[in-house]
Amino acid sequence: MPSLLCRRQLFLLLLLLLVAASHGDSSGDTYDTSMCLPESTCGNISIRYPFYFYNKTKDINGSNNSYCGYPGLAIDCDDGKLTLQLNGADKYKVNNISYGSITNVSLVDRDFVDYSSGCTKVDHNVTTPPASWLFFPDMSVEYLVFFLGCSFMNLPRKNTDPITCRFIGLAGQSYVIPKDQVLPGNWSQFCNQIFEVPVLKYQPVDPNSDAWRNGGYGQVLRQGFQLSWNDTGRPPNCTQCEESKGRCGFSQNREFLACLCPNGRVHSVNCSASDTEWERELIGGRMPSNSGVMLTMA
Ligand SMILES: *[C@@H]1O[C@H](CO)[C@@H](O)[C@H](O)[C@H]1NC(C)=O
Ligand SMILES: *[C@@H]1O[C@H](CO)[C@@H](O)[C@H](O)[C@H]1NC(C)=O
Ligand SMILES: *[C@@H]1O[C@H](CO)[C@@H](O)[C@H](O)[C@H]1NC(C)=O
Ligand SMILES: *[C@@H]1O[C@H](CO)[C@@H](O)[C@H](O)[C@H]1NC(C)=O
Ligand SMILES: *[C@@H]1O[C@H](CO)[C@@H](O)[C@H](O)[C@H]1NC(C)=O
Ligand SMILES: *[C@@H]1O[C@H](CO)[C@@H](O)[C@H](O)[C@H]1NC(C)=O
Ligand SMILES: *[C@@H]1O[C@H](CO)[C@@H](O)[C@H](O)[C@H]1NC(C)=O
Ligand SMILES: *[C@@H]1O[C@H](CO)[C@@H](O)[C@H](O)[C@H]1NC(C)=O
Ligand SMILES: *[C@@H]1O[C@H](CO)[C@@H](O)[C@H](O)[C@H]1NC(C)=O
Ligand SMILES: *[C@@H]1O[C@H](CO)[C@@H](O)[C@H](O)[C@H]1NC(C)=O
Ligand SMILES: *[C@@H]1O[C@H](CO)[C@@H](O)[C@H](O)[C@H]1NC(C)=O
Repeated sequence: MPSLLCRRQLFLLLLLLLVAASHGDSSGDTYDTSMCLPESTCGNISIRYPFYFYNKTKDINGSNNSYCGYPGLAIDCDDGKLTLQLNGADKYKVNNISYGSITNVSLVDRDFVDYSSGCTKVDHNVTTPPASWLFFPDMSVEYLVFFLGCSFMNLPRKNTDPITCRFIGLAGQSYVIPKDQVLPGNWSQFCNQIFEVPVLKYQPVDPNSDAWRNGGYGQVLRQGFQLSWNDTGRPPNCTQCEESKGRCGFSQNREFLACLCPNGRVHSVNCSASDTEWERELIGGRMPSNSGVMLTMA
């Protein structure tokens, strides 16, 4: 018992010394570590950095609303439901994430999730944020184009028939056409709104068929789409940061800001060895079993 107490006191003393030492070191700033997503699950989906909680943005080195994660990967876990804010305010339900050298995320626009029948209306483009390195993989994704509120009065009849759906507030005909079947031409001259959305590859369809025109295209939307990223698009200083066990902090302008180290220190590019050793001891909340380890570190 006395020897255990002794060890604890020794540990605490060393802790104090180290904290004091790091505060004395003026070269480093700190960040609020709660901004970094701990490895956890939301519902049955495993989530971790480079995702980040959209409502846990913080100040990094004077740059407000910065985040610990990649641009475009703001998530929210509400009541076991995982949503992603890809680009702007539109939210997508996340059905699955598989992490790897190419990470894949399966998404469905939240507006489509609960539609069982009738006409689904798209009201925004689905895009990846500029300067992010997220992409819609060609292998699994294709696109539907929505031409809403069109009038082709002065044109000869197109060889595509409009959908039978009428949308409130939009005069004229609307068309939902697989991108590879869209006839060339300046559609924006004739249509009120044009939206392009990624969808999972599906069985070839005839956009002139009754089923499709009566709202059947909605089934394709409800299957969602895939979003991926890999390491090749990472900014070089983010790569260096992650290789040093740090996490990349980005600004609202999607620029790499700084390297967020496990011990709460911020560095401009990478963490030093002492910035990463601490995590195991402190985050684990455990006393080291062997004070010899502490002595080596100190
Ligand atoms: C963030 O900083 C900018 C410029 O310094 C300022 O205009 C803006 O109001 C700040 N936003 C918040 C939420 O503090
Ligand atoms: C962030 O959102 C979650 C779920 O929506 C909520 O439980 C949590 O309190 C929010 N955190 C902050 C700091 O607003
Ligand atoms: C999570 O659970 C839901 C409903 O039980 C299921 O539909 C979905 O496929 C599951 N997702 C994963 C990634 O296991
Ligand atoms: C989720 O992704 C993993 C890995 O790609 C895959 O094995 C699994 O079947 C997927 N689950 C669902 C419900 O799609
Ligand atoms: C992600 O999808 C690509 C194909 O688009 C595949 O090659 C890769 O193995 C997938 N990654 C994981 C982790 O399943
Ligand atoms: C297409 O039409 C729109 C609206 O009339 C016009 O603003 C645009 O410049 C045209 N684009 C091309 C490539 O002609
Ligand atoms: C959506 O994308 C289409 C096709 O790329 C484009 O013509 C249209 O202007 C975009 N709409 C908005 C609101 O950005
Ligand atoms: C890796 O990501 C880049 C975009 O950052 C993409 O262009 C490239 O196709 C991806 N490579 C693979 C093998 O998916
Ligand atoms: C951090 O970067 C510097 C130079 O940029 C390099 O010399 C050093 O080895 C790097 N440290 C780690 C732990 O990667
Ligand atoms: C990251 O690298 C880019 C390009 O190499 C550079 O412009 C930028 O200033 C760097 N950012 C930081 C915080 O070092
Ligand atoms: C913090 O910002 C200052 C100037 O804005 C810069 O000199 C310093 O390198 C930054 N620190 C880190 C860790 O990025």
